Parts: sequence; structure tokens; C-alpha cells
Amino acid sequence: MDLFEYQARDLFEQHGVPVLAGIVADTPEQARAAAEQLGGVTVVKAQVKVGGRGKAGGVKVARTPEDAEAAARAILGMDIKGHTVHRVMVAAGADIKEEYYFSVLLDRANRSYLSLASFEGGMEIEELAVTRPEALARIEVDPGEGVTLEKARAIAVAAKFPAELVDKVAPVFVQLYEVYAAEDATLVEVNPLVLTGGGDIVALDGKVSLDENADFRHPAHAELEDKASADPLEAKAKASHLNYVKLDGEVGVIGNGAGLVMSTLDVVAYAGEAHGGVKPANFLDIGGGASASVMAAGLDVILGDPQVKSVFVNVFGGITACDAVANGIVQALEILGDSASKPLVVRLDGNNVEEGRRILAEANHPLVTLALTMDDGADKAAELAAAN
Ligand SMILES: Nc1ncnc2c1ncn2[C@@H]1O[C@H](COP(=O)(O)OP(=O)(O)O)[C@@H](O)[C@H]1O
Ligand SMILES: [Mg+2]
Repeated sequence: MDLFEYQARDLFEQHGVPVLAGIVADTPEQARAAAEQLGGVTVVKAQVKVGGRGKAGGVKVARTPEDAEAAARAILGMDIKGHTVHRVMVAAGADIKEEYYFSVLLDRANRSYLSLASFEGGMEIEELAVTRPEALARIEVDPGEGVTLEKARAIAVAAKFPAELVDKVAPVFVQLYEVYAAEDATLVEVNPLVLTGGGDIVALDGKVSLDENADFRHPAHAELEDKASADPLEAKAKASHLNYVKLDGEVGVIGNGAGLVMSTLDVVAYAGEAHGGVKPANFLDIGGGASASVMAAGLDVILGDPQVKSVFVNVFGGITACDAVANGIVQALEILGDSASKPLVVRLDGNNVEEGRRILAEANHPLVTLALTMDDGADKAAELAAAN
């Protein structure tokens, strides 16, 4: 989960990283009041989860509260790379002398952590990595050891910070690593980290991604979720603890096991080519124990997608045998009643498949068609989607 800048700022503050005061505002009037409260020069900053806000006109300096109100009026509603601005942060203005770059991230390829740092900040890091790769230090961080003060100094030296600055930035690197480790982040990035006229090091812009797999350790992270922008179907699925991702097509897909569902998406997309180009409408893995209530919750989410014209249920019976899944489907259709209104193609295979097929045949539900193979099921579901 990516955080907004103001949320990153708050986390930084909690972990002792030097930041400037910042107040969020949803209206120009609130922005004016925030600027009055902060006093002095402020900077009004678009809160969208995308970089390059400055270049896009989403970061404006305001000398007075009236300026801040006008800046917020200009920025709120702005579209930045496809993200609409609903909120701004009014931040205290920094007297910037120099801009640097620092990040620590999960390096999946090397199964380790990686810190990137540069004495030459201010420009976009992707650009720096291409134009002046030698200016960007890449230092592996052992997850067992983390960023100690000694390690932080080594990073600063590799990033070509002059000797007199190494001792100034190193403690801030340690604190930023503390945010990364303590919050179970996969990325903590500061661009720019600045040196002010007064000689202080301050994190002016923060980007943090949290590892959702660690949510159970961080009840407070639930508060950080951007519920307003979440897809309503994905939100509903999440509430039922379903692994659901909304896609753009017409054939709803339910399967058990992420691998089977992934291949089902491919097979449906391929089958759809012969039926006017219909495509899978979602990824939904109902996992191992496909009980009636889980099946009902899954069907309910998929049928709630107005784009869905047919549903392909593709289940391989393992520990949960096919008869249990078949009973789950029959009961789920009973639970859903009239709200189940779209044709279902069901393909069962694996443990106890004969009994599973018998249960579905006996139930003889008008919406359900049985398919014997995955290819046949995908083809039938695509055909029904194209016809509806
Ligand atoms: N509080 C601030 N005070 C002064 N200047 C700022 C402040 N926040 C940002 N800036 C300036 O605006 C630039 C862009 O802002 P930043 O927060 O990095 O947004 P983005 O990376 O999305 O463009 C920064 O590099 C910095 O020069
Ligand atoms: Mg930035």
C-alpha cells in the first residue's frame, strides 16, 4: 500500500525524522486557515500518489494565507498523471540550500534490502540513474543488521557527501531506516532531503510503501487506507477476506488457488477471441476451503459487477473435495436467490469429481452449465458472455 505524502510525513515524525510542519486541507478555505496557523511562507502541495507533482504544477509557494487559498483553489481538482487532487497539504516553507536523495527498499531480486543515495538530489531519480549513474550510490543493507550509524556513514560517503555533511545526514538515514523496519515498509524514499540555510537536514518529500502482508502487526495501518479511491467491488471483497482483483472484461472468474485462477484468466482471454473478444472480468481466488459461504461471498462480488455477463467457476478439488464445492455452489445460489441472475459455467475436477458433478446435475439449476474441461468451460462462458 502506497501512502500519501502527508501520511509519510506523519510516520517520519513519529520515528524522529526531521520534517516540517504540515496541515492537510480539503478546501481552499481550510488551506487559508492552515497557512494562518503555520505563519510565514508556506508551500501548498497536491496529495496524490504519484511523483513529479512539482513539475505538473501541484506544488506552489504561498507568501500569505490569501496566496495559500488561491494556490489550493488552483491545485484542488487538478489532474496529475491521471490522479485527481482531492486534498492538499499546506507545509511550512523551507529555506533550501541543497537537495539530496535517500531511499531504502526491498530488493526482491537479491533477497535483500537496498539503499540508494545521492548528494545530487532535486532531479527525478529515474533520470539521475540514467544520466549520471555514478552519482547514485547503491548499497546493500543486510536485513539482519539494518542501517547502523556506521552503515549510514558508509552510505553517505558512497553517495559522495562531503566529510562535513556525513555526520549530519547519517543519523537521519538511521531514522529513515527505523521507519522502514519498524513499519514493515517495502520502500521509504525522501526526495528531496534538504540542507536548510540554518544548517538543518529535513525530509521535504516522503514516499512510503507498506507491506500489506504485515498488516496484522500494525492495526494502525488500517487507518492509512485510502477508502475513498478504492474500487467498491474490491473493498467489498476485502471485507469478506477474498483475494479479488477487478479487471476489465465480461467473464467473471472464480477458482481455487492463485495459479489455477491465473491460468484460467489466460484460457478465458484466449477463448474470448472466438467470441467477439470478451475478456476475464476479474481475478478471484477463493482458496482452499471453498465453503458455501465463501462461494456465496465470491459470487456476490462478481455478480455485483455490472460488466459481468457470465461466470466461469473453475475448481480443482484437493483437500476440499469436489462434492463439498458442488454443495457450496448449490447453497450459494440458494443464499443469493434472485440476485444470482447471470449464467454460470462450472468445471470441476480432482478429488471426488464424480460425486461433485452428480450433485450439480441433480440440483439442475437453470443458470448452471457443467463443463468437463477447462477449455470447454472457458469457451462456453465466453460464448454466454458474448450472447448476453
Ligand atoms: N516545504 C517546502 N518548502 C520549500 N520548498 C519545497 C517544499 N516542499 C517541496 N518543495 C520544493 O518543491 C519541489 C517538489 O516538491 P516535492 O515534494 O518533491 O514533489 P514531487 O517530487 O512530487 O515533485 C522540491 O524539490 C522542493 O524544491
Ligand atoms: Mg519529490
